Amino acid sequence: MKTGDSQSSQLDELESAQKDPQLIPDGLFIVFEGIDGTGKSTQLHLLAERLRQLGYAVVATREPTNGPYGQKIRELFVDRGAVSQEEELELFIADRDQHVKEIIAPALSDGCVVICDRYYLSTVAYQGANGMDQDLILKKNEDFPVPDLAIILEIEPAHGIHRIRNQRHEHPNTFEEEANLQKVAGIFSAMQQDYIERINGSDSIENVHRFVFGAVAKVLAQKATQQVES
Ligand code: ADP
Ligand code: TYD
Repeated sequence: MKTGDSQSSQLDELESAQKDPQLIPDGLFIVFEGIDGTGKSTQLHLLAERLRQLGYAVVATREPTNGPYGQKIRELFVDRGAVSQEEELELFIADRDQHVKEIIAPALSDGCVVICDRYYLSTVAYQGANGMDQDLILKKNEDFPVPDLAIILEIEPAHGIHRIRNQRHEHPNTFEEEANLQKVAGIFSAMQQDYIERINGSDSIENVHRFVFGAVAKVLAQKATQQVES
């Protein structure tokens, strides 16, 4: 076959995949977790793009959302003392409740791959570091869909803060102070859920993506096997 023929057949395949997205029964739910500056949003966009090119219907989303609770949460980044620890936790739960009902659950039942930048493990880590009981936090999250895969990107807090300042050109907010991020990172590193995959976030963007895609390919294959068996 001539190179041109093979290229055009690849293009045909890609086009038809884009016209008829590859749907997964009950969807696939992937979340990115880790402290600030680890590269979650960078990797989420790379993964979403790669999966779309492979023909999957992808919904990329994040928490806190841009909804009413998410906006209240963003006010806390300036003045965290404005609410109690309990009220802060309730704001994250209310934001997630709306997010699950309006975006995540419908997209999963439509057969999409949902990729979320932060989810309830962030609540365990950040509100846990803020003094709330971790078991209580998990209990308040138990009715939400459990991810098929939670990728925890790991990095030294000082390195994450350096990236926020020097690469994102932002000033770290109250949640992003190094002493707080040390506590948050400690909680993330002790988590033992079987759907967690840990990846070194201080490697190059390309290498991190390679590991991320490897972990995703594994859960996609598991889903496919479950489908055949059922
Ligand atoms: P997060 O969403 O975890 O806070 P970002 O994806 O916004 O992190 O990344 C923080 C900054 O670091 C961005 O400016 C981004 O371009 C950069 N960055 C992300 N991943 C890497 C990497 N592996 N190596 C170097 N810089 C990175
Ligand atoms: P971040 O991903 O940095 O969003 P943005 O780019 O809009 O600033 O998340 C904002 C902060 O919210 C981050 O410091 C972690 C914190 N957070 C919690 O404390 N609990 C949670 O449940 C979630 C989802 C986030």
